[in-house]
Amino acid sequence: MTDPLILGLESSCDDTAAALLRGREVLSSVVEGQNSLHAAYGGVVPEIAARAHAERLDLCVERALEEAGVTLKEVDAIAVTAGPGLIGGVLSGVMMGKGLATGLGVPLVGVNHLAGHALTPRLTDGLVYPYLMLLVSGGHCQFLIVRGPQDFTRLGGTIDDAPGEAFDKTARLLGLPQPGGPSVEAEALKGSEKTYRFPRPLLDRDGCDLSFSGLKTALMRQRDQIVAQKTGLTVQDRADLCAGFQASVRDVLAEKTRRAIALYLSENPSEPALAVAGGVAANMAIRAALEGVCVNHGLRFTAPPLRLCTDNAAMIAYAGSELLAAGVSHDMTLSARPRWPLDRTATPLVGHGKKGAKA
Ligand code: KG4
Ligand code: ZN
Repeated sequence: MTDPLILGLESSCDDTAAALLRGREVLSSVVEGQNSLHAAYGGVVPEIAARAHAERLDLCVERALEEAGVTLKEVDAIAVTAGPGLIGGVLSGVMMGKGLATGLGVPLVGVNHLAGHALTPRLTDGLVYPYLMLLVSGGHCQFLIVRGPQDFTRLGGTIDDAPGEAFDKTARLLGLPQPGGPSVEAEALKGSEKTYRFPRPLLDRDGCDLSFSGLKTALMRQRDQIVAQKTGLTVQDRADLCAGFQASVRDVLAEKTRRAIALYLSENPSEPALAVAGGVAANMAIRAALEGVCVNHGLRFTAPPLRLCTDNAAMIAYAGSELLAAGVSHDMTLSARPRWPLDRTATPLVGHGKKGAKA
């Protein structure tokens, strides 16, 4: 029997996306970003995002069908992000998913956006449960033990900003272009991490929680101090500030990863692995540090290709396929959820990211 053809829809933040998936084969994955719509406001404007999703989702679906070389009639199921995220955008996707599922007479499954990210290493690398996951992006930062499509244990997460957000703010403070991650990383390569040493937040506290907002303040103070002393920042000062900042994020993530690994390994997983996903996983210094930690602890290290670890609909279709295979589907009462923690037993994290509340 061939695997079902699944149409995935994603609209929870500032990317409108549709994808077609059969088994573990991504037939097409269309992602339309909204950066230009929000650029003037310095962050995602929920109303603008919601409107753009409503206007573009059907176009994304058309393109995804065309690129996959299939017709809507061939689709066997619809998987749609039902949260967490900006509610207007999530609603657009859920309404579209319901309409398509009803019109086609096929099952509908509502997917947790974070589960989409967390299950991606199974799609891309065939990881077996349970594996350890570090989600690090502009909106997310958490350690999870992934045990099944609906079974997650959160070991810790950020209590304020996500690391990508800290990179973006750092870039803004130093007059570098957005998104901040790649520009700060490029500057850091030209600087020395020894010139300015920034704090390593929360290392003195047990566990795997993280904090990045103090780091941004420390960077701002250091910048202001240099400006006051020298009446301006030299190109080298800026590179050194970036290198110092990045080293702090790298060290904190590496140390918290060591702690998360210790908790995970105490459960004797059959094929120990750490997967890292999210935009920040693109940072070579951070990636190398995490890879080193894995080598030291005997874990396989994987990082899905960037196009599948930043927001996309293929991950939603894939998570949907695992849910459907487990007998999960939803009817027209499926609701859009602004908050939807993966681990319902963990105490909520208090932080709010630039891309909405963290689940
Ligand atoms: O996963 P993503 O595309 O979107 C969500 O936030 O969900 O992640 C984007 C974030 C941005 O904050 C961006 O600055 C950061 O990932 N990022 C990086 C790098 N590339 C992207 N951060 C550090 N180093 C990078 N090379
Ligand atoms: Zn995401």
